[in-house]
Parts: sequence; structure tokens; C-alpha cells
Amino acid sequence: MSVKTIMVIGAGQMGSGIAQVCAQAGYDVLLNDLKPEFVERGLSGIKKNLNRQVDKGRMTAEQLDAVVDRVTASTDLQDASKVDLVIEAAVENMDIKAKIFAQLDEIAPEHAILASNTSSLPITEIAAATKRPEKVIGMHFMNPVPVMKLVEIIRGLATADEVYQTIEDITKTLEKVPVEVNDFPGFVSNRILMPMINEAIYTLYEGVATKEAIDEVMKLGMNHPMGPLTLADFIGLDTCLYIMETLHEGFGDDKYRPCPLLRKYVKAGWLGKKSGRGFYSYE
Ligand code: CAA
Repeated sequence: MSVKTIMVIGAGQMGSGIAQVCAQAGYDVLLNDLKPEFVERGLSGIKKNLNRQVDKGRMTAEQLDAVVDRVTASTDLQDASKVDLVIEAAVENMDIKAKIFAQLDEIAPEHAILASNTSSLPITEIAAATKRPEKVIGMHFMNPVPVMKLVEIIRGLATADEVYQTIEDITKTLEKVPVEVNDFPGFVSNRILMPMINEAIYTLYEGVATKEAIDEVMKLGMNHPMGPLTLADFIGLDTCLYIMETLHEGFGDDKYRPCPLLRKYVKAGWLGKKSGRGFYSYE
């Protein structure tokens, strides 16, 4: 299957990062969100990242212009009628994703692959909202997208081998490393990462150590680039809670129970870096 044009749905941190790496790899990209100002914010994030590359001498100003020119703003889902691949990076909510996929199924050309960047929702259930479940697949990028090498590729129950192969090949053209996983709650990345973060929050909650001490232990003792509480703030505490709830519900095991302190912070609106306050303050 030949892919030339990609639509990325959602111009937030993940969506704009995905759009950037796709445009850098030479694909024509449509960056779609509900409002023009959301797309503008995503585009200015891309320009800021690319300007850093120019400043570091890794890219010329002409190359930057060529990448930016390959990204077109879109606020109309009908634009999916022109694309070969859609990568959805909208909010983590099954009802919203199912609605988007049902609409895309009507709009996108018959050959188009519909991928989701969901961090934990079942690909099989998203695929069931369409009449082309064999062309639906998970393509889970890590944050920050331009830096992180991994893309978890998740096969739904009906995903065709040919579709899997196309997505694996595209991932390599983005200079990322594809890793194949099956469709279970949290896939592999978040099934392992989130319980560690949740345990770090329990460690704080139970007064075992300060937040700084917990992060220092994991950074210096395990060589993690960020301590788990800093990483939770970076990912977003609402996202961490949502993924823990998905694991808890999906496996039914108490070991996935979200820490009450995580719930309390989310209820307070302390969502981490994006809200200016989480375990740490960013104001
Ligand atoms: N966008 C683009 N580039 C970025 C960036 C961003 N948001 N943040 C940092 N960078 C780049 C910097 O420009 C720098 O590039 P060069 O080395 O090419 O100059 C490089 O990353 C390193 O940055 P810094 O020196 O400023 O900082 P650092 O060394 O502390 O690295 C980090 C920052 C890459 C974020 C590092 O701390 C890290 O790897 N943290 C862990 C990230 C992680 O675990 N991500 C996965 C989260 S889980 C997830 O995404 C899945 C999910 O479903 C929740």
C-alpha cells in the first residue's frame, strides 16, 4: 500500500509531534483539530521545535520551510477524503474516538488506513465503530514525539497483515522503531509504566519519602531520565489516572487501583505541567 498523504487528528502535544515527524519524513500532512486556533497552536509548536534544529545547525532555514509547507491546517473532517492514512490523536475517550472513526469510515477513501494513537483504549472496539476493521490499527507514539524512538503498533482482532506491514514500514520511514503488541489494556508500555508511576504516588502518599527523594532514587538508582513523579506531571495526571482506571477495569485486579492521592490531585485540577501544578509547581 502506498501512502503519500496523512491526516493527523488532534493538534495537541502528541498530534503536532506526529504531524512534525511525518512532514520531516516527506509526507504531505493535514493537521486537523476542531478550531483554527488549536491548529495554529500546534503549527507554532512545530515551528518552534524545527527552529531549535536550525539553531543547532542540524537543518537549514530552507529545509525548515519545506517541512512547514508540507503541513496544511484543517478544521474539516471531510478533508479525510484526500488521504491515504489517518492518525487519530484526539482525547482519550471511547465515545469521542468511536464517533470520529465512524465519520472517517464514511469520508476516507476505501484504501485508507485508520490508525489511533490511543495510549490504552482497545483498538478492537475502536475498529468496531467502522465497516473496515481490517484497516484499523493502533500506532502509539511516545511523548515527546520528535525525540522518542518507540512506536508501539497494536493489532486489533481483525487488523489485516498487509495493513500491519504498511504501518511498520511507515514507522521506519519516520526513523522510529516499531514494536508489535497485541490488544490488551495499556498494551505493553502503559501496562508497565503506569503501575510504576502509581506505586511512586503511593510511596509519597504513605510518607515513605519526599517527592524529590522518590524521583532522585529512580533517576540516580535506575538511570531513568526523569523521576516517576516528574514524569507523571509531564504526561498529565489526568492521563495517568485515566490509564490506571482502564487497567483496573480491564484486568479487575486490585494491583491496578489508582492511588487516592492521584485522584485528589486530578479533582483539584492539579494536572501536572500543563496546568502549572502537579507534584511540582511550574509557575
Ligand atoms: N519536543 C521536541 N524536542 C524536545 C522536547 C519536546 N517537547 N523536549 C526535549 N526535546 C529535545 C531537546 O531539544 C534535546 O534535543 P537534542 O539532544 O537533539 O539537543 C533533547 O530532547 C534533550 O532535551 P533536554 O536536554 O532539554 O532535556 P533532557 O535531556 O532532560 O531530555 C526528555 C528531555 C527527552 C523529555 C527526557 O527527560 C526523557 O526522555 N524523559 C522521559 C520521557 C518519557 O518517558 N516519555 C514517555 C512518556 S509515556 C508516553 O508518552 C506514553 C503514554 O501513553 C502516556
